[in-house]
Amino acid sequence: MKAMEWTIGWWRVSLQRVYPTVAQLSQTYDKAALQWHEHLSLLGYCHAYRQLWKSLKNADLLPHWQDNLTICDCGIGTAAFSLAFAQIIAPRTHITGVDISPQMLKIAHQKLSQANVSHQICQSDVRRLPFADECFDGVISAHVLEHLPNPEQGLKEIVRVLRPEAPLILAVTQPKLIGRLIQWHWGNRCFSPEELSSLMSEAGLTNLQFFPFPIGLTRLTSFVCIGFKSSR
Ligand SMILES: C[S@@+](CC[C@H](N)C(=O)[O-])C[C@H]1O[C@@H](n2cnc3c(N)ncnc32)[C@H](O)[C@@H]1O
Repeated sequence: MKAMEWTIGWWRVSLQRVYPTVAQLSQTYDKAALQWHEHLSLLGYCHAYRQLWKSLKNADLLPHWQDNLTICDCGIGTAAFSLAFAQIIAPRTHITGVDISPQMLKIAHQKLSQANVSHQICQSDVRRLPFADECFDGVISAHVLEHLPNPEQGLKEIVRVLRPEAPLILAVTQPKLIGRLIQWHWGNRCFSPEELSSLMSEAGLTNLQFFPFPIGLTRLTSFVCIGFKSSR
């Protein structure tokens, strides 16, 4: 993590981001869990996630995706991204939801059960996924990579569990005014499309394509990138 430094006369001033530890972050999200889904919905993210899946479907980017898929949602939170996926893309998907926050996972389990989506939940760090190599048809992840001080490590681990040619769909916070305010509050970082593109390419993902969020508040905070693991 690079520090910003200024030399003023005989003084050197240095400013460096301090990321919360996994334990601190898990505690923060545990506290936020009860209201999380309601807030997401009020701010338009649940709607935006559905619209995004529609855009990806219409763009014909998920060719063999119909049913009986095994999908991993990294940093599932209360399952909003997964629920929208199941609703728009494939209702008979099996979702594996990974998160560091037990309270978020508890609500994800409730929501997925209510929606009859086959699933399992797993308390784990996305940088150390307890799954075999190449076991998922796809990985989806919304607003999680921003929390990693070393996002390249998270991406490497995600690519490891993807089958060859399978897609990773990532929603991230962008460095515009509202993204910066979110960053200030949650201690996360933001990604420009260029930064994300270079991280994803370095992790071995190809055919990257970017999608804006639908019109509304979410368009100001976030964008989506889809990339595919190379074939062997
Ligand atoms: C901004 S929330 C997004 C939740 C959900 N994807 C959504 O769109 O509502 C970030 C989530 O990532 C989880 N998280 C943060 N760091 C993580 C890590 N290293 N491994 C797994 N989950 C993590 C948090 O506990 C939280 O549930």
